[in-house]
Amino acid sequence: MEVVVTREAFREATRAARVSGARLGLVPTMGSLHEGHLSLLRSAASDCDVVVMSIFVNPLQFSSAEDLERYPSDLERDLNLARACDVGIVFAPSVGEMYPRGEPETRVEPGPLAGIFEGASRPGHFAGVATVVTKLVSLCGPCRAYFGEKDFQQLAVVRRLVEDLDLDASVVASPTIRESDGLAMSSRNRRLEPEDRRAASALYKALRAGQACLANGARESAQVEMTMASVVAAEPRAKLDYAVVVNPLTFAQPTSLVGELRLLIAADVGPIRLIDNLEVHA
Ligand code: PAJ
Repeated sequence: MEVVVTREAFREATRAARVSGARLGLVPTMGSLHEGHLSLLRSAASDCDVVVMSIFVNPLQFSSAEDLERYPSDLERDLNLARACDVGIVFAPSVGEMYPRGEPETRVEPGPLAGIFEGASRPGHFAGVATVVTKLVSLCGPCRAYFGEKDFQQLAVVRRLVEDLDLDASVVASPTIRESDGLAMSSRNRRLEPEDRRAASALYKALRAGQACLANGARESAQVEMTMASVVAAEPRAKLDYAVVVNPLTFAQPTSLVGELRLLIAADVGPIRLIDNLEVHA
């Protein structure tokens, strides 16, 4: 496994792999790897010849300096996990290497999709994501790029970014990996105090309750949304941000509850913001 820390070395390593005929699978991460990340690496390994992983905690996508500083990191551990998943190239640049002139003057500004739900609660977040993903794809060159459905709105923003800017990547979505109580795996889970960790399962419970509500013939989005909200409300340690049913492509509220829909939820559990989502059929 080759570990590179400069943009130049990353370009060179991916170019060399491509010249020898390899198809590249790019898995962008912020490190602190868990089974969710590893599932993307395994899926890339099964589709591609060389798995390329980036580890970069991107300051552009954090609105609070505190949140950024608290982001967990353990490069040695991540590299060992990457090796075990047959990763060929790891790109682990410093902030100064990715943004040598400080905050970039040019950013990728995603459209309206980036202003709702996660985008409304975290202004500038998706512009930060879109900017760094554009840089990573541009440095990596033609690839398949793997993203988790766990961050369902991010996945949609990235798909649209690739389409709008003709980035040379084909986006592959990977299903959400969960803990045994249903909690979606996330690097943030490690920061949950034990009582908050227990309470955090309320998000998945709420999604399942929303799904059951639809299966029982709910006709109105409001009914499904209230069902989800009431599950979170029953957990004193959780504070709901949103619980909604949306069209999975447009993120608009569906006019009628038919076909494939997506339930989205976000809540603070103690001081930690958690998100989750579930595919449902009505
Ligand atoms: P990060 O949170 O490290 O996640 C990296 C990738 O792993 C994302 O595509 C995310 O959706 C996926 N992932 C996280 N938890 C998952 C889970 N439980 N199951 C399946 N996939 C999961 O998302 C980011 O980093 C950043 O925004 C990034 C795209 C790297 C840009 O900085």
